[in-house]
Amino acid sequence: MTNDATRRTSRISGFHKLGVEERIDLVAGFADLEDEHRRQLARPSNIDTHLADHMIENMVTTIAVPVGIATNMRVDERDVLVPMATEESSVIAAVGNSARQCYESGGFTTSMSGTEMIAQIQLLDIPDPVRARFLILERRAEIERICNACDPILVSLGGGFRDLDVRLIGTDSGCMVITHIVIDTHDAMGANAVNSMAERLAPDIAAWTGGRTLLRILSNLADRRVVRARATWTCEAIGGAEIRDAMIAAYKFADNDPYRAATHNKGIMNGISAVVLATGNDTRAVESGAHAFAARTGRYRSLTQWEVTSGGDLAGAIELPLAVGLVGGAVKIHPTARALLAILQVQTAGELARIIAAVGLAQNFGAMKALVTEGIQRGHMSLHAQNVAFAAGAVGDEVAEVARRIIDRKSINEAAARAALVELRGPA
Ligand code: MEV
Repeated sequence: MTNDATRRTSRISGFHKLGVEERIDLVAGFADLEDEHRRQLARPSNIDTHLADHMIENMVTTIAVPVGIATNMRVDERDVLVPMATEESSVIAAVGNSARQCYESGGFTTSMSGTEMIAQIQLLDIPDPVRARFLILERRAEIERICNACDPILVSLGGGFRDLDVRLIGTDSGCMVITHIVIDTHDAMGANAVNSMAERLAPDIAAWTGGRTLLRILSNLADRRVVRARATWTCEAIGGAEIRDAMIAAYKFADNDPYRAATHNKGIMNGISAVVLATGNDTRAVESGAHAFAARTGRYRSLTQWEVTSGGDLAGAIELPLAVGLVGGAVKIHPTARALLAILQVQTAGELARIIAAVGLAQNFGAMKALVTEGIQRGHMSLHAQNVAFAAGAVGDEVAEVARRIIDRKSINEAAARAALVELRGPA
C-alpha cells in the first residue's frame, strides 16, 4: 500500500450514475491499475477459449456474470473498492449503502485466527483405536518432516506443518481413527498442498497402526482460518431506536430458528460468495465452511451477532472460516480475477479474507434493515423491472422507461412489459 492509498476514498457518490467506461476509469484511477488490467475489465467477454478449455474438462463455452463495485467500504482504516460478481440485483447496492452508514463511525475492524488448513486421513479396521491414536501422536516429528518435504516452497515462504490431532469417531461400522494435519498454507487457499500431504502420509499411518486408510482430503470446516469483522452503526445513522431494536429482533429470530438462519446466512453469503467468485476463489469451499461453522454448536445459527452498545448504537460482528488465496488455481490464471484483485490492492490472502468478512457483515446489515423497514421487494423491484423489460425485448433507453411504466402500474411481469414497449414504440 502506498501512502497515497491511505488518502483514497471509497466514498463515491453517484457511482451508479456513471457510464460503464467512466466507472472503469474511476476504479482504475483509484487502484492505479496497470493498462493490461484496465483493458481486461473493459472486455465483457474476457476469457479466451484456450484458457477456459485448460481450466475444466469438456469445456464448450463460458457464462458471463456481471461484476460490480461496492463503494464506501473502509476496512481496518483503509478505503477499498470491492469487486463483486453476482447475478442478483440489489446485492452490491446493499453493501455500499450499509458501508456508507458506518463509514463515519470508522468502518470495519477485522482480525483472524490464521491461515491454517486441516486435512483428514481416515483409518479403518483398527481393533485397538486408543493405541493407534497414541502411535500416530507419538510420530509428530516424523509427520512434520513428511508433510514439509511435500512442499518445500511453502515451507520456504514461512508456511508448512503446524499441528497434529487424532480423533476417534464412533460409527455404526465401528470406531474410525481420524488424523488431522494442520498446515499453514499462507497465501494459497491450500487445497492442493494439504491434499498432497495427506495422500503422502496415509501409507505411513497405515503401516504404523496396521489399519487401512481410506479418505485423504482437506476439511472445508476451516476453523483454523477463522476471520472476524465488526462495525458500529450509530442509532442516528440507522434511523432511530425503533429500527435498531427491530434489527436486534430480526437477528434473535435468525439465531434461534434454523429456518430463518438459513435465509439470514444466505443473505450474508450473497456478499461473501460474490467477492470470492470475483477473485477467482472457490465459492463452494467457502460456502460449505461457513454453513458447517454456523452449525458448530449442534444447532444451525446466525453467522453474525448483533447487540446494542452502552451508547445506544448498533454493533455487528461476523465470524466465519474463509479459505481464500491469492496464489494457485483460477486466482493465478484468470485474467479478470487478477485485474479485480488488483483493484483490492491486497498483499496477502489474510487481507483479502478480512475484506470479504466485512462485506458479509455489511450485507447482513443491509438485508436486516430492509426487512424490518420497507421490506426487501421495493429495493429489488427497480432492477428486477429492468430485467423484465430486457426480457420483453426493450433495448437501450427503452429499458429504463419500460421499467418505470411497469413499476408505476404495479404490474412487474413480462406481459405488462411487452405492452409498455409496444405503447412506447408507437405504431409500427
Ligand atoms: C435475498 O437474496 C437475501 C435475503 O433473503 C437475506 C435475508 O433474508 O436476510 C434478503
